[in-house]
Amino acid sequence: MAVQINPSILSADFARLAEEAKAVQGADWLHVDVMDNHFVPNLTLGVPVVESLARATDTPLDCHLMIEDPDRWAPQYVEAGASSVTFHVEAAAAPVRLAREIRAKGARASMALKPATPIEPFEDLLPELDMLLIMTVEPGFGGQAFLDIMLPKIRRTRELIDKHGLQLWLQVDGGVSASTIERCADAGADVFVAGSAVYGAKDPAEAVRALRTQAEAATARATWACDH
Ligand code: DX5
Ligand code: ZN
Repeated sequence: MAVQINPSILSADFARLAEEAKAVQGADWLHVDVMDNHFVPNLTLGVPVVESLARATDTPLDCHLMIEDPDRWAPQYVEAGASSVTFHVEAAAAPVRLAREIRAKGARASMALKPATPIEPFEDLLPELDMLLIMTVEPGFGGQAFLDIMLPKIRRTRELIDKHGLQLWLQVDGGVSASTIERCADAGADVFVAGSAVYGAKDPAEAVRALRTQAEAATARATWACDH
């Protein structure tokens, strides 16, 4: 599985989103953080902004919904043009039905876990998903420090993916930077969200390239990737 780098526009200039999308040419996806001020204590953007952004860029949108009632809202983000939609399992009433609905509408279905949510109860759900997101900070804000205590969960998730022979992508989000990305790759992540580490850099596109080089090197050394 190739390494993917997804810059988070949460750290971009919201008044210049189309230009900010172009500033990370070479990125695999644009990570779009949707927050409703209920599921997390912060408010960002919604369906109309995603619709406009989808028209303004060729980079596919990876929408991370940090909202209550994703069962009601997530399908609208597919219609708005998101190619991948992530809902939080803590907020979903019927995660299997929701994942199937997202897929049926033509997007990749992804489920996120907050730091205190364990992976084990969801082992049997994994085949319903295209990606699993392990939060490496408490969701709500960019620029927080990476939680090293999440590394064992990443490792255990990678083991489950391999045990079941799944093609599931394993995404990490929060505090991913030049100083933490190698630990994430070593533990088994293959999709890396980075907000401040990309948009806080002088040259965001160069930051994406540098993160990719680091993640690829760490993956090549990692034991979990040996027989892939
Ligand atoms: C936080 C968001 C992240 C955020 C990451 O709740 O889900 O996507 O943008 O920002 P950094 O990379 O700065 O931690
Ligand atoms: Zn996010």
